[in-house]
Amino acid sequence: MVIPAEIRKEYNRLGERRDLVHLKDFARWGFISSDDWTALCRRTADFIGVEDGDRLFEAGCGSGAFLAELAAYRTVSLAGVDFAENLVRIARSHLSGDFQVADITDLSSIGTASYDKVLSHGVFLYLDSEDAARRAVLEMTRITRPGGTVYIGIVNDPDRHAEYDYPPSGSFILTRSFWQNLADQEDLTLKLVDQESIFSKPSGYDCYSRIRYSLLLKKAPGSGP
Ligand SMILES: C[S@@+](CC[C@H](N)C(=O)[O-])C[C@H]1O[C@@H](n2cnc3c(N)ncnc32)[C@H](O)[C@@H]1O
Repeated sequence: MVIPAEIRKEYNRLGERRDLVHLKDFARWGFISSDDWTALCRRTADFIGVEDGDRLFEAGCGSGAFLAELAAYRTVSLAGVDFAENLVRIARSHLSGDFQVADITDLSSIGTASYDKVLSHGVFLYLDSEDAARRAVLEMTRITRPGGTVYIGIVNDPDRHAEYDYPPSGSFILTRSFWQNLADQEDLTLKLVDQESIFSKPSGYDCYSRIRYSLLLKKAPGSGP
């Protein structure tokens, strides 16, 4: 069971560590090498279709590790929120952009239709209910411009979860049908892929890609804000 208050404490504790150097290590990506991290982020950027000039926002940006890699790959502007204030402080000190402390289920401080691409990388596995996931994705959709894209990355897949011996750190699971139903109700176009089609390694830490998926939700160009 996921307890968001505990997750927040855990990430805040990581934000206090003096021995960590790489931004990814504050966000529990310490088991993946720097080169693999760059490869993962760049392949994810290609999956999302990140382009020069994009205004990017990340829900659950942590220390900014994922956004930093996207900014090194493409000419983009950055913004994000995270509920772990110690990680937001690190993001602010390393990256230029607008970084705020907030829960991703309530983005009321962010204007409607403000961003081209609204992302969340490795965050939905820390939510505690379908209701929270629905609130978060509706908020992410609201702040995306018409014609823009919402990306939700690294979600636990119930169909494949039993294949793994160790439970991954974030344990919240969402069915694929949750996303199809949401896309149908909100008039969004869904593209959902197995995580290993974006990034996988035959050995070593690979973000448990064999038991996870990632997805895009696209807003129609003529849709309301
Ligand atoms: C694995 S880290 C990923 C950080 C960043 N997305 C990246 O890939 O570098 C997960 C992040 O999600 C944040 N998080 C989890 N649940 C959240 C929530 N409900 N609201 C805001 N942040 C949340 C945690 O504080 C943590 O920074």
